[in-house]
Amino acid sequence: MSSLHAVPGAGGAPRPPRSGSSTQVRVEAPGKVNLFLSVGAPAADGYHPLTTVFQAVRLIETVTARRQAADLHGAITLTLEEPYAGVPTNAANLAVRAATLLAQTTGVGDGVDLLLRKRVPAAGGMAGGSADAAAALLACNALWGTGLSQAELAGLAAELGADVPFPLVGATAVGHGRGDRLTPLMARGTYHWVFATSAQGLSTPAVFRRFDELVPGATAPADVPAALTAALRDGDPFSLADALHNDLQAAALDLRPQLADIIAAAESAGALRAIVSGSGPTIAALAPDPAAAMRVANALTASGLVAQALRVDAPVAGARVVG
Ligand code: C5P
Repeated sequence: MSSLHAVPGAGGAPRPPRSGSSTQVRVEAPGKVNLFLSVGAPAADGYHPLTTVFQAVRLIETVTARRQAADLHGAITLTLEEPYAGVPTNAANLAVRAATLLAQTTGVGDGVDLLLRKRVPAAGGMAGGSADAAAALLACNALWGTGLSQAELAGLAAELGADVPFPLVGATAVGHGRGDRLTPLMARGTYHWVFATSAQGLSTPAVFRRFDELVPGATAPADVPAALTAALRDGDPFSLADALHNDLQAAALDLRPQLADIIAAAESAGALRAIVSGSGPTIAALAPDPAAAMRVANALTASGLVAQALRVDAPVAGARVVG
């Protein structure tokens, strides 16, 4: 809870709630793909130092924060707009944890019901749960009138998880530390992705553990390659494809060997490159244009290897209030 002292009203007696005036606030936040992910040896706390390049993609989570009925005063609850396998609706949900952390930090006791509409695959390596948490922070900050700044929200986001700060800023950014220390990166143009999802998720800690077994001599993470920065600056998907890299790919393929078949199918259908997204198992295939993306998506769907093939463009903006 290192950022507590930075938040006004925290640390002493809870300050009285300063409620906002609306009855509900709707926020959208994007999922992500890692264009580059270099992993170092784990630190004493078990976390791995990273250099990563995030790109926010047009798979959008929507969180609507609604005032609680008076008889539920103070409770933080979550409702899924549609059933979604693998997403808890209790206190373990990252959006609930985010609202709870904001309430504890600011001393607000209003409670909230969070209505969640999911579009990012669960446990897929695309930070869908992190987007939900980022959206919940922004929505509750507006609903409750707690007035935390972007920097203060980013501090709370980093406490919730390494991937939570990025969906607050979106677009394209370099992540250092655990992936939570962000610097914006210039990117021109629009990139056309196909995301191949799997029916079964992969556990991020399990993938990092397998990385440690496969690469026992890992040192410090590498810098972002100049070729990748240049490709993004030029808006050139061909050069970007050559520069894509994920240190966790070998570990994810080791745990889920059939992902190699999806990569091969995407590339033979016209993807410039296909890689594991984050810790997987989603495969991210970069296409040169929308028509090629359509062909890749159709081929992956017909292959029977994937749960879904989602055509998505990127980059997109970070979390924002939409209603
Ligand atoms: O921070 P978050 O809860 O999203 O991380 C999930 C897990 O992924 C951690 O518990 C850790 O096992 C692993 N992780 C890591 N190094 C990072 C980020 C995540 O080892 N930089």
